[in-house]
Amino acid sequence: QQDRDACRQLIVDLLEQQQAALVAHYYVDAELQDLALQTGGCVGDSLEMARFGSDHPATTLVVAGVRFMGETAKILSPEKRVFMPDLDANCSLDLGCPPDAFAAFCDANPERTVVVYANTSAQVKARADWVVTSSIALEIVTYLHQRGEKLLWGPDRHLGQYIQQQTGADMLLWQGSCLVHNEFKAEELADLKKANPQARVLVHPESPAAVVALADVVGSTSKLIQAVTELPATSFIVATDQGIVHEMQKQAPNKTFIAAPTAGESATCKSCAFCPWMAMNGLAGVANCLQTHSGEIMLDTALGSRALKPIKRMLDFAA
Ligand code: 13P
Ligand code: SF4
Repeated sequence: QQDRDACRQLIVDLLEQQQAALVAHYYVDAELQDLALQTGGCVGDSLEMARFGSDHPATTLVVAGVRFMGETAKILSPEKRVFMPDLDANCSLDLGCPPDAFAAFCDANPERTVVVYANTSAQVKARADWVVTSSIALEIVTYLHQRGEKLLWGPDRHLGQYIQQQTGADMLLWQGSCLVHNEFKAEELADLKKANPQARVLVHPESPAAVVALADVVGSTSKLIQAVTELPATSFIVATDQGIVHEMQKQAPNKTFIAAPTAGESATCKSCAFCPWMAMNGLAGVANCLQTHSGEIMLDTALGSRALKPIKRMLDFAA
């Protein structure tokens, strides 16, 4: 505990000395989330992290999350230094969407507007007309659909299917999935719902359609957190990375949160819904990147400015 306190204090001092801000996602280590808030940084969903990093006057950002979040921060603020505790913290959606193959998919369908999820590399974003996060995807696709545009969507097929079903848009889907959300099981969730009839079910739309169909609320991490204070229910079944429960508990300390069942469930692991890449972020890693300036995001300037356009389009739309 003494070591952790010392590490926390070291981070607080280094952030101040370097005019740096800590930007964290709701799935990372609870201590890092708390530290981000205590030091005037931010904890948020992907869209909020992008906005915060771009608007904040800090000259340095430390992004505790996965690679695409650090890259997005750098694309939006090329003049800032952006560090991550571990540059290998990736995402199965990003890994499952290689830029060359995705470009070929786009080239084969030139009449379609290309909409990509934020969980992608800078190269894939550079090929897109629009970038969206889960919190703004429905609104942007509704807008494009109303303009009569046909869409090419990548990479998450579950989120794509959900949006297609909600909006009726013509969407050609890349077949990617998130290794965490893809594991939620509908039959077991239906049983859990029956055993807890008062509980409301909160589902991130990266989950399979049969799981989404059982949800009371579907949305981004921020939207799911909002639901725990807005809904009168006192218990919630949570189908997303369990790191989110820290903020839910803070916002609603008297409510109960039950992990939605996953395929990997066992006696020792009730829900295996933890993103292995988000878990690569910890106090020691944050202290280390501030101390040694390792883990810096470096991005080709021309690539960054191509990827900026579709991200800016999203931010301007969301404003
Ligand atoms: P949010 O934008 O909803 O925070 O989602 C990011 C993510 O990676 C979910 O798995
Ligand atoms: Fe990517 Fe899934 Fe991890 Fe989110 S939870 S960062 S989508 S692998």
